[in-house]
Amino acid sequence: METVVSGIRPTGNLHLGNYYGAVKSFLQMQNEYNCYFFIADWHSLTTRPKPEDIIQSANTILAEYLACGLDPEKATIYVQSDVKEVLELYLYFNMNAYLGELERTTTFKEKARKQPDNVNAGLLTYPTLMAADILIHKAAKVPVGKDQEQNMEMARKFARRFNSMYGVEYLKEPESFSLSAKAVKIPGLDGSGKMGKSEGNCIYLMDDEATIKKKVMKAVTDAGPTVPNSEKPEVIQNLFTLMEVVSSPDTYKFFDEKWNDCSIRYGDLKKQLAADINVAVAPIRERINEFKSNTDYLNKVARIGAEKSRENAAQTLKEVREIIGFRSVGF
Ligand code: TYM
Repeated sequence: METVVSGIRPTGNLHLGNYYGAVKSFLQMQNEYNCYFFIADWHSLTTRPKPEDIIQSANTILAEYLACGLDPEKATIYVQSDVKEVLELYLYFNMNAYLGELERTTTFKEKARKQPDNVNAGLLTYPTLMAADILIHKAAKVPVGKDQEQNMEMARKFARRFNSMYGVEYLKEPESFSLSAKAVKIPGLDGSGKMGKSEGNCIYLMDDEATIKKKVMKAVTDAGPTVPNSEKPEVIQNLFTLMEVVSSPDTYKFFDEKWNDCSIRYGDLKKQLAADINVAVAPIRERINEFKSNTDYLNKVARIGAEKSRENAAQTLKEVREIIGFRSVGF
């Protein structure tokens, strides 16, 4: 059975981008693959979270994973910082990663621009840690949204480099996975492109009906189409892109036809979109609090996940150490 690995940083609640870009694939894949889904808490250290928030933030994502339907009986669900083996592989990849290629990644450049007083080595080596997360379990497939494509390219590069460096065919190049034919990018409704935490434009799985409605009704639009069948400007396309993932094909078609014959009323489209988002997230929202308050269960899931993940990670490390030429002292 092929292996799947993916993770999400615990920097707040899950939003629609996380859900449609990643978690929906997790849900399908846990039935068909050997899955490892984790909470990337080491990755979140680049933004200096407070010690008292660390466990709480990880628990939030863990509760949300479970509320979405991730099943610890089917998938290995764990917290990244519980699997120290990852760090050793991170070190090996760092030894063979070049400053130039790390500095050129778009996410590094973006982060360096956003937090100029904290351009740390963790930000620079973000792609090597991500490669270690993936390759420690020898993943064949990685369900991620479009924004992770460059990091995935880097993971493949580090796998190839390791093989050629040691003259082995050991690490396989992991593929990005998406449920749809192309990678998913959930837009923000403020005209800023992607929905994301740092963009501050998220609709969260936790949001109640009124909040969802308020956020959707505020979405940026324009004066409306005047020429039939014209191309949609980006802000309008964003609404339709979201509608394509949350609404039924008939609803999408209805509003698309209204656009094409210039009779569209954005207020109606937004109301429908808000209602459909609410239908999609309501059952999840209801379960999040249940899981969140059950810390005993969350701890149990994390412990079992960490054990399973460490066992597999230790096996990979043993092999990697042999390839690199380290002595094996048997512990
Ligand atoms: P993160 O925490 O930013 O996002 C988690 C997942 O959600 C997807 N996503 C989106 N997809 C579509 N549209 C959006 N607007 C949107 N916003 C977020 C992301 O593509 C991602 O799949 N580097 C990763 C975490 C990570 C990881 C890994 C992932 C660390 N190690 C190993 C896979 C494998 C990140 O920052 O994702």
